[in-house]
Amino acid sequence: MSLKNKTVMVTGGAGFIGSHLIDRIIREKPERIVIVDNFFLGKHRNIEPAMKTFDNIKLYYQDAGHYEKMKNIFEIENIEVVFNLAVVPLLTSHSLPKITCEDNINITLSALELLREGCFKTLIHCSSSEAYGTAMEMVMDEGHPLNPTTPYAASKAACDLLVQSYENTFGLDCAIIRPFNNYGPRQNEGSYAGIIPITIERIMAGKQPIIHGDGLQTRDYIYVSDTVEGMIQIYNNSNTRGKVINLATGQEISVLDMVKAIARELNYAGEFDFQPPRLADVRRHRGDITLAKKMIGFEPGTSFEAGIKETVAWYRKILGK
Ligand SMILES: NC(=O)c1ccc[n+]([C@@H]2O[C@H](COP(=O)([O-])OP(=O)(O)OC[C@H]3O[C@@H](n4cnc5c(N)ncnc54)[C@H](O)[C@@H]3O)[C@@H](O)[C@H]2O)c1
Repeated sequence: MSLKNKTVMVTGGAGFIGSHLIDRIIREKPERIVIVDNFFLGKHRNIEPAMKTFDNIKLYYQDAGHYEKMKNIFEIENIEVVFNLAVVPLLTSHSLPKITCEDNINITLSALELLREGCFKTLIHCSSSEAYGTAMEMVMDEGHPLNPTTPYAASKAACDLLVQSYENTFGLDCAIIRPFNNYGPRQNEGSYAGIIPITIERIMAGKQPIIHGDGLQTRDYIYVSDTVEGMIQIYNNSNTRGKVINLATGQEISVLDMVKAIARELNYAGEFDFQPPRLADVRRHRGDITLAKKMIGFEPGTSFEAGIKETVAWYRKILGK
């Protein structure tokens, strides 16, 4: 299968991963790209490069969880594939848990209802490794239990269960992608930012980087270009339907080592500000990518050092230093 000559919708397309996915979709020569984003955290600057290089993009400022309004879009556009990436993120769920859960579930439910009604053919749904909770096994494969520790993670797990239930009940064409921690250019550095943009911003502003807890909690950090390559290949291979597929590197890096890598890149030799651990922070995360390797030949090609270099260089440009 291929996206060539198809109309493809990306929900959350003005966000971090969604905008990189759009750049990658353009290389597949689609007929048209439809972006649905309510700009909760999305940014125009993320999609400007795509808008400049591909002239058949339509942007809808729209809540992807609003079923009727989404249905109107499907009546106008001849969409075949939806990549569902719109999300209210993890850190929002610490202050706005109800909104986070309601929005995330509504986004997925409206996509599923529209798929069930035949408004499009294939749903590639984006889950998160957060749905697993803290690792109970050294390496987490797709059979790892879902033990979400935060409302965000619970909403992501709930969405996955909804996708699987619609798939089973109505025989729909869906695949679930479960990425681990992504990093790279365009990750939101404003409200509800993640640790990598915050660390870069703080060091650049002459402040100490903050580490919650002892910093020995680990994550499987994957560079965003590797993730979006995997997403495209998952769509292209129809054997992925009905499956959940991890996208990770299979490597574990502590938060402390990640902050040190950023500090090295920015020539920061100062102290780190260790603060109390965040409640419900997962302790260890390392993805098993055996299934992705087998199904789509997945090989995340970007080393952590190279990825951090690219990421820091981008924020340097954006933050104007
Ligand atoms: N960033 C990561 O490390 C990571 C890891 C695993 C999984 N994921 C998943 O990847 C997907 C994309 O995440 P991201 O990191 O790019 O997040 P992001 O916040 O950068 O992008 C999400 C986009 O969704 C938009 N959005 C939020 N609510 C919306 C709504 N109701 N209707 C329409 N648009 C809405 C936001 O404005 C934003 O542009 C999500 O499904 C997320 O759960 C991300």
